[in-house]
Amino acid sequence: MAGIPYNRDIVTLDFLGNLQRTHMCGVLRADDDGNDVVLMGWVNRRRDHGNLIFLDVRDRTGIMQVVLDKEVSAEAHAKGETARNEFVVAVKGKVRRRDAGLENPNMETGAIEVVAHELLLLNESKTPPFSPADDAIQNEEVRLKYRYLDLRRTEMQHNFALRSRVAMAIRNYLVEQGFLEIETPFMTRSTPEGARDYLVPSRVHPGTFYALPQSPQIFKQILMISGFDRYFQIARCFRDEDLRADRQPEFTQIDLEMTFPRQETVFRTVEGFLTAAFRTAGIELKAPFIQMTYDDAIRSYGIDKPDMRLPAMVSLTDELTPELRVSLKIEPELPVLGFLIPKAGGMSSTERKKLLSEVRGEFGDSGLDLLDTERLKTNATFAPLADVIEMKLAATAEDLVVVVTPKLGTPAKWNFDPQWIYKRVGGLRLQLAHKFAEKHGLFTKTGTEADYKFLWVTDFPMYEWNEETKTWDAAHHPFTSPHEEDIKSGRLVNDKGAVRALAYDIVLNGTELGSGSIRIHRQDVQAEIFRSLGMTDAEAKERFGFFLDALEYGTPPHGGIALGLDRIVMILAGATSLREVIAFPKTAKAIDLMVDAPSEPTEQQMKELHLRTVVRN
Ligand code: AMO
Repeated sequence: MAGIPYNRDIVTLDFLGNLQRTHMCGVLRADDDGNDVVLMGWVNRRRDHGNLIFLDVRDRTGIMQVVLDKEVSAEAHAKGETARNEFVVAVKGKVRRRDAGLENPNMETGAIEVVAHELLLLNESKTPPFSPADDAIQNEEVRLKYRYLDLRRTEMQHNFALRSRVAMAIRNYLVEQGFLEIETPFMTRSTPEGARDYLVPSRVHPGTFYALPQSPQIFKQILMISGFDRYFQIARCFRDEDLRADRQPEFTQIDLEMTFPRQETVFRTVEGFLTAAFRTAGIELKAPFIQMTYDDAIRSYGIDKPDMRLPAMVSLTDELTPELRVSLKIEPELPVLGFLIPKAGGMSSTERKKLLSEVRGEFGDSGLDLLDTERLKTNATFAPLADVIEMKLAATAEDLVVVVTPKLGTPAKWNFDPQWIYKRVGGLRLQLAHKFAEKHGLFTKTGTEADYKFLWVTDFPMYEWNEETKTWDAAHHPFTSPHEEDIKSGRLVNDKGAVRALAYDIVLNGTELGSGSIRIHRQDVQAEIFRSLGMTDAEAKERFGFFLDALEYGTPPHGGIALGLDRIVMILAGATSLREVIAFPKTAKAIDLMVDAPSEPTEQQMKELHLRTVVRN
C-alpha cells in the first residue's frame, strides 16, 4: 500500500465487517419503529449539530435519515465527523419515530430515522463536481462527463427503473401473444432507412466495410420468409444523422413483424403492448386508438404527427360566399383556415400587434389575423361571420382565435404545393401553442390517460420528392407496399406523387413513436419499386440481390412496425430529451463525453485494418 494515503477509518479488507444489509434505504416506514436494521448507501447530505450528526443515506430506493448521537455511540459519531457527501457507508442501528414536529412529509421515510450504533465508512469520495442530491443541474456537459454521478440522482434512478419495467412489460406481452424474440446482426450490409450508415472496417477483407444496421428491416422480413410467423426484438439501431432532442445515433426499437397481418392486426398488437407498458407507470390507456389518414392529418393539423392535445384547424372556406371572397380579395383556389389556442385570448392591442409581427413570417401581409371572440365581432372583415366562426371553432371568450385568409396574389409557392398552406398554418398552430403552453397550462399533466393522445396515421404517400437530388425517394422505405389500386392504375409510373402506401405511423402528443407498413411480398413488385426509385436492375441486384432472391422462394404476405423505446420512456418520464432515458447517451455532436469517443485508432490498428487517414477539407 506504499504511497497510497490510507485513512484508518475506511474499511478496506473484510470490507463489510460482519454486517449484512437488511433493508434498502427507501423502504422503511413508521411500522418499522423499534426494529434493528443495517443500511448501506451513499451520504446524500450531512448536517453537523455538534453532539448530533445527521447523515441522509441514499440508495436506489430512497433516502433515510441516520442520527449519529455521541451519547449512543461515540465511535460512530467520531466516524460521522469525517464522513462527507458521496462517501459510501454502512449503518447498523434502530428505527425510531421522529419527534413530533420534526417529521418531513416530503420524504417517504420522513416519519422515522435510524439511530446508529455502528457506522462503517466503506469508501471515500472526492468532492463531486455537482451534488447528486440536487434536483436540477444546469451544465449538461458536466452531467455527461460525470455520468456516473448524474445517474445517482433520484430522477435518473426513477427513469431507468421505469425504462426497465416498460421494456419488461412489452416483452412479456409480446411473448404471450406468440412472438419469438430473435436477434439480428450488428455487422451487416446497409439498410435503407434514410440516414447515413456507421461503418466498421474489415481486417480480413481489405478495403471492405460492414454497416451497422439502421434497423433490422430486411432481416425481419427474411425471418417471415423463414416461417417464424411472429418476430420481435428490442433492437439497437445505429444512424448517422443530425441529432435533436428526440434523436440519438444509437437508439432502441421495439421491432416486430407478422405473417398474414391486416393493418389492424398490427395496430391491435401495438395497442396491447403499449397498454401493458403504460400500466407499469400507473396509466390505464383506452384502446383502440383513433385512426386518421395522412391527407386528413395534413388538412386538419398541417402535419403528419398531429398533437391531439390541441384543437384541430378548421376550414372556413364554405362559410365564405363567392361574393365575400371577391370583396375580401381572397385567392379563390386556397382554403381559409382557422384555429384557436385555448385560454390565450386575453391580450391588449399592443401585445397582439407585437405577437403578430413576431409570428407573421412567411404570411407577410397575406391575411393572418389574431383575434378573440370580442374582436371577431368588431373586425370589419369578420363581423358578418363572427357567429359562425365562433361556432365552428367552439371558441370561448378567453381563447385566441387565429384566422388565415390568403389574399389574392399570395406568393406563388402557396399554389405550387396544395398542402403548403395547411403545413404553414399547422406550423403556426404549434408555434403559438408552445409559446403559450406554460403560461396557460396547455399541456399540464393530470397523471391520467388524458395526458396521452395516441393516434394512428394511415395511407402515407409512397414517394417523397427530393428537391436536392431531383428524384423520388421512398417516403417510408422501399419495402413498403403501395395500395393495390395504385399499382393497377399505372400511377406508379405516371403519377408517383399520388401513390398511397400501406404505411402507418403511431403518434403520441405530436411525437412520431413508430412507423411500419404492410410489405411487398412479390419479387416482381419489389423489382418494379426499386426501378421506380431510379435504381437500375443491376444496382438493385448489387445492393439487394440476396433479398430479391429470397422473395422468389414462397414469401408470405407480411407486415410490421418499429417503435422507439427511448421515445416512449421519454414521454412517460415527462422528459424533453432522450438523454434523460439513455444511460450513456451522446451529445448533439455525437460525442460520448464520459469515455471520450469517438477517438483516434492506434497506428497498429490502422495498419491491421489496411486504412490510412487522409484529412479532406
Ligand atoms: P423508422 O425509421 O420510422 O422505421 O423508425 C421507427 C421508430 O424508431 C425511432 N427512431 C429513433 N429514435 C431515436 N433516435 C433516432 N435517431 C431514431 N430514428 C428512429 C422513432 C421511429 O418512429 N424499419 C422501419 C420500421 C418498419 O417498417 O417496421 C423503421 O426503422 O420512434
